[in-house]
Amino acid sequence: MRTDLVEPGIRIAPSVLAADFARLGEHVGIVEAGGADLLHLDVMDGHFVPNLTIGPPLVKSLRPHSKLLFDTHLMITDPMKYAPIFARAGSDLITFHIEVVDDPIHMIEALRSLDVGVGVTLNPGTAVERIWPVVDRVDMVLVMSVNPGFGGQEFIEASLDKLRAIRSRLRPDQRLEVDGGINGETVARAVAAGADTLVAGSAIFARPDPVAAMNQLRAVAKAAAG
Ligand code: DX5
Ligand code: ZN
Repeated sequence: MRTDLVEPGIRIAPSVLAADFARLGEHVGIVEAGGADLLHLDVMDGHFVPNLTIGPPLVKSLRPHSKLLFDTHLMITDPMKYAPIFARAGSDLITFHIEVVDDPIHMIEALRSLDVGVGVTLNPGTAVERIWPVVDRVDMVLVMSVNPGFGGQEFIEASLDKLRAIRSRLRPDQRLEVDGGINGETVARAVAAGADTLVAGSAIFARPDPVAAMNQLRAVAKAAAG
């Protein structure tokens, strides 16, 4: 597992969902050179969420072109089946949804055996208590602040309570990521509530200058972190 996964501090994870897929290598290169910390890869299967996005071949194609930590968010009904394929393709961190896994401890052990970082996530409608049995076993918790499936949605304010509740249970070597509707305005509230790893798709890639947008997000986030 990459040790930079668990380093503390504010980190920005551009989500390629909002990038131009016809120029993906170039766009990833731009945010990487501009100081991105992770690359967020949204995997959707058309079952767990009503959308289809990327799969292992895209991760494999990007891998030789980037040194960024590949933060792979599996919005799929069978993460146990596909996690090894993503690990082989080059994912460094794999996050699964608690809603689709009967035995999350087994899922986490399977991910550990692949030597990837382990993340667990939950939908806005899922009670935070669902993750308590495994919260001390993961490297990162991801709070979905929109209903997963699409970029460009509005931040759900109730996510802030969830972030606070989870932050109070995490050790310093565990990261708290937030995903959905993060922009220059919402990021400060998310960080004040405990988030340190900030996913942003449209607020970075849909802007005319993605690097300037990323730097601005980071500056606001750092100020909110105090
Ligand atoms: C939504 C995805 C997000 C998405 C965020 O289902 O998990 O990662 O890319 O997009 P924005 O930042 O536009 O809300
Ligand atoms: Zn995501």
